[in-house]
Amino acid sequence: MTPLAESLDIIRERVPAARPRIAVLLGSGWGGMAKQLKGATRIAYADLPGFPAADVPGHAGELWLGRLGTVEVALLSGRRHVYEDDHADGMKGALRTLRALGCQVLVQTNAAGSLDASIPSGSLMLVTDHLNIAQRSPLVGAIGTERFVNMVDAYDPALRKLAQEAASRRGITLHEGVFAWVLGPQFETPAEIRMLRTLGAQAVGMSTVPETILARHAGLRVLALSLITNMAAGLSGELLSHAHTLSVAGATADKAGALLADIAQAIAAVHAP
Ligand code: HPA
Repeated sequence: MTPLAESLDIIRERVPAARPRIAVLLGSGWGGMAKQLKGATRIAYADLPGFPAADVPGHAGELWLGRLGTVEVALLSGRRHVYEDDHADGMKGALRTLRALGCQVLVQTNAAGSLDASIPSGSLMLVTDHLNIAQRSPLVGAIGTERFVNMVDAYDPALRKLAQEAASRRGITLHEGVFAWVLGPQFETPAEIRMLRTLGAQAVGMSTVPETILARHAGLRVLALSLITNMAAGLSGELLSHAHTLSVAGATADKAGALLADIAQAIAAVHAP
């Protein structure tokens, strides 16, 4: 049996009624969101073959199956980062399993640094497009013509519209911009940030892009939200650290969580089973 088939069996055995249409991948600092899930069953990634071992603080490494508001979701609390082992396909098993379980949409969240003075620390940004600065792909070694994935509108315009409408109903400003993926784990130099600004990025982070590529390859529609935890290197006097990322993210968690629940609701309305 493949790891995917084994994982599906385990999920179906533990939660026979699970029929999520929406997968949510929680990034750094978004972990608290999982607590907003109602009636959740938690399954450790360690129990699911093909799921990653997650060991970065702020990333729990659990699949939660439950309801966000009234919407059934499969929530991935914790992601494998490419900087952990230099493998870009760490989330492949998890995403493909959720696709096989019936998910049609992947909502990603992350923490990011801002390159744009009009997108301040503590704000939220909808990712409109990305720059794969790390130039790694989770599809290296994949076979078949499907590997030549079209990345135009990878961040689904219709889902972005739903997200903007949900934000404006809540009176939340949802900035928009291009997300640059860097490998990390070190933060950028000020010179690198000047380069990324010149290239047209509004935010920078160490995740999300490999998962977007995997999701598009698997046929999932993608939406991504960045929680801006800091101005990027050299743009302010802030001292960058993972602890700082988690503390700013924690302070914004309620606003971000409420918006995420509304977005799930809006997506579910157009993705009824
Ligand atoms: N750079 C890269 N990743 C990040 C940052 C940053 O400034 N902030 C949060 N994640």
